[in-house]
Parts: sequence; C-alpha cells; structure tokens
Amino acid sequence: MTKIRIAVQKSGRLNEDSLQILKDCGISIDNGKDQLKATAMNFPLEVFYLRNGDIPQYLRDGVVDIAIIGENVLIEKGQDISIAEKLNFSKCKVSLAIPKTVKYNSVKDFEGKKIATSYPNTVLQYLKSKGVTADLHIINGSVEIAPNIGLADGICDIVSSGSTLFKNNLKEVEVILKSEAVLAVSPLISEERKEILKKMQFRIKSVLQARQ
Ligand code: PRP
Ligand code: MG
Repeated sequence: MTKIRIAVQKSGRLNEDSLQILKDCGISIDNGKDQLKATAMNFPLEVFYLRNGDIPQYLRDGVVDIAIIGENVLIEKGQDISIAEKLNFSKCKVSLAIPKTVKYNSVKDFEGKKIATSYPNTVLQYLKSKGVTADLHIINGSVEIAPNIGLADGICDIVSSGSTLFKNNLKEVEVILKSEAVLAVSPLISEERKEILKKMQFRIKSVLQARQ
C-alpha cells in the first residue's frame, strides 16, 4: 500500500509538538526511540526523523512528500517549496541583535559591520532591501556568543522567549521575520499521495480548530 512520507525534526524544539499534532490527528506512530524511520499503525504514513536544515533538500528531491518544519527554515533554504498549512506552534522571530550597551539608531548602523548568523540568505535579503552592506560570519549554533568573544558586532538568529539574547547581554534591534511550524509539500509529490495528504490536512484542520 502506498504511504505518504513525512519528515519531522529529529531533535530540537519542533520534534515534540510535531509528533503531538500527528497524535492529535489520531495517527499512532510506532516509535522505537533511536530509529530514524517509523511507520504509522493506523494511517498510510511513514515518518523520517531528519535534521532541520536538511529537510528542504529532501522535499525538493522528493525523498519525502511532506514535512513539518519551521517557516524560517523554508525562507532561508526553501523558497521554492510550498506551504499547505500553518500549524500555529513553535512561533519565533528571526531578528538582528547587538550588545545591550551599544547605541542603536537604525538598520544603517549595520553598514560595514560583521554579523554572525546561521541564516545568511535571510539576512542578506533583508539588508539588501534596506540598502545596507555587511560582512557575514556564518556559524551553525551558539550564535549569540559571537559578539562577546569579539567575533562579530551583531548577530541574526532565532528569538523565541528572548532568554538566550538576555543571557548574552544582547538586545533585539530589528525583527526580520516571524515564523511558526508549517506543513510543507514536495514539488514532486505523486497524485496518489496527494489524496493521502488531503485526508491528513482534513484532520489537521479539525485539530487546529479544536485547539483554538
Ligand atoms: C535556538 C536559537 C536561539 C535560541 C532562541 O538555539 O538559535 O539561540 O534557540 O530561543 P530563546 O529566545 O527562547 O532563548 P538552540 O538552543 O536551539 O541552540 P543552537 O543555536 O546552538 O542550535
Ligand atoms: Mg542558538
């Protein structure tokens, strides 16, 4: 029997809520903890646990048909991938921040400055739209530490509760975008799997409505 293949974040902030929404849709997943793949017992669905940043490429290649992923990741790496449903959880912002003690006037202050980030495309697009040129220092994690160790003048990263900024003596100065978890769809999904997706979306919509 044909199954729809969904990518879910392997670990991190989306993982738990992603599995919860599937569960609330009445889909039971047989979860051996360390398995990277699981099968639903009562719905034609296979779950692949993947790294966040790899998911856009898997969708593009049609290795998975759908994914639960942060909109911010699609904006950074998958602007060609379509969104079927916004899921109303894992809300966050992608923001620019600088040391608390540094005076800030406008985004022009970033001209010629060094910005540490894991979101180079997002920052570049934003700065370009403002006519600002800055120097990017691309790192994969613990971005907020960069200004404190003299690696950058500012950062661009995800802000959720704001506690990471606070702990690192940084202040948010520009919000580039707001994001939440979304259901994304591969451009290569087959007609047969589109039918399964329709059934899933129907359930997801009812779950989201009931949560309100
Ligand atoms: C994420 C993100 C921010 C932080 C934002 O990092 O990169 O640093 O969470 O959340 P907050 O506003 O609630 O503090 P994560 O903890 O996932 O670690 P990483 O950056 O090292 O991957
Ligand atoms: Mg971080």
